[in-house]
Amino acid sequence: MADKSSNAMWGGRFADGPDAIMEAINASIGFDKRMAAQDIAGSRAHAAMLASTGIVSDKDADAMREGLLTVLSEIDGGTFEFSAALEDIHMNVEARLKEIIGAPAGRLHTGRSRNDQVATDFRLWVRDQLDAAEGALVALMRALVTQAEAGAGWVMPGFTHLQVAQPVTWGHHMMAYVEMFARDLSRMRDARARMNECPLGAAALAGTSFPIDRDMTAKALGFDRPAANSLDAVSDRDFALEYLGAASICAMHLSRFAEELVIWSSAQFRFVTLSDRFSTGSSIMPQKKNPDAAELIRAKIGRIFGANVALTLVMKGLPLAYSKDMQEDKEQVFDAADNLMLALAAMEGMVRDMSANVDVLEAAAATGFSTATDLADWLVRVLDMPFREAHHVTGALVAMAEARGVDLPDLSLEDMRSVHKHIHEGVFGVLGVHNSVASRTSYGGTAPEMVRAQVARWKEILA
Ligand code: ARG
Repeated sequence: MADKSSNAMWGGRFADGPDAIMEAINASIGFDKRMAAQDIAGSRAHAAMLASTGIVSDKDADAMREGLLTVLSEIDGGTFEFSAALEDIHMNVEARLKEIIGAPAGRLHTGRSRNDQVATDFRLWVRDQLDAAEGALVALMRALVTQAEAGAGWVMPGFTHLQVAQPVTWGHHMMAYVEMFARDLSRMRDARARMNECPLGAAALAGTSFPIDRDMTAKALGFDRPAANSLDAVSDRDFALEYLGAASICAMHLSRFAEELVIWSSAQFRFVTLSDRFSTGSSIMPQKKNPDAAELIRAKIGRIFGANVALTLVMKGLPLAYSKDMQEDKEQVFDAADNLMLALAAMEGMVRDMSANVDVLEAAAATGFSTATDLADWLVRVLDMPFREAHHVTGALVAMAEARGVDLPDLSLEDMRSVHKHIHEGVFGVLGVHNSVASRTSYGGTAPEMVRAQVARWKEILA
């Protein structure tokens, strides 16, 4: 009989209990209690399977399954006492089950190990996050589509190098993010499809000699099939890395959009007004309204991509199969998931609430000789000029306008003819920003009619 102070679950060969420092470094209950529901779902599926295969009696399995529900309600109700001495959620649950149902609890761990147990719990947890991210992405995309529909025809400057390039429409800019977030969503779905194999029954690493039914537990837990190799099943954390990869790319997209909102809401740009609900004030400067939510979203990529790097480094160089290093997987993923969900929700709220300053956008769209390309295209189309020559002629006109401190449409026909004698007044038809965007009807272009078509397509997809 082991010393009383040694571990009740695995202390058979131990004479002494762990040092306090050992317990502190070893225990994961402080964080893995977040997987309680998954752990109990896994154990209930396992118990049912043990009975159906005749490995335990129906009576024992029923007691286990009932008792596990009691444990879950205690955890949900906040009355469960978590114990660091019991290390992790798996042993905390099992120990409490024993207190509730007595001896049959000791049969629950037949044909499994904490290694396949934790792999199963964590997969279920990550799978839930993939689903949750999908829901949040759909909500954000809907908010963007609503903005795009309202402003399909609003003109604004399109930038390259953050220098005014060509006029675009507000709707087009919003729909650009819909495309990005749609790819993020599809990455989440891909990851889900690939990860949906059940590790349970891989046991410690080699499988088990008990006649378990892995198809049954896989099905009960909503997996497509059992994982085919027991060593791989307990060792694999690719699914968590794929989630973090998808989350990192999504956070990167959020960060780019957040950066634009920070710029756009500044006094220098005034492209958008963010709502009070998603802004903060300054404790010293009474006039301030700061885009803190956007700034924090912009920053979230730091911890999310950090988690991706951290877990990759935890896994790197680990020999098969399980090593305790892998306990370091969960906090990274939990933190990344919490923050991704928060960032997605905050972005959705900001997008729903923000109002575009349509006049400011339109005035800005006309600055920076933004229709110079339209002028060059006109020279090609109407005067049959080679594009390179048209580019040169337009450059000369831009230089002239710049020297005079005016915009291209403000040059007179005479001015224009002094640069190229065949230019006629038809050119003024293409120098306005509305003409400019309306002309960009190539597939995927910024013309309001093209944006409206994309809005209609996405509304149908997101319905
Ligand atoms: N708390 C552990 C973890 O998160 C559970 C698995 C423990 N397995 C073991 N062989 N000690 O990884």
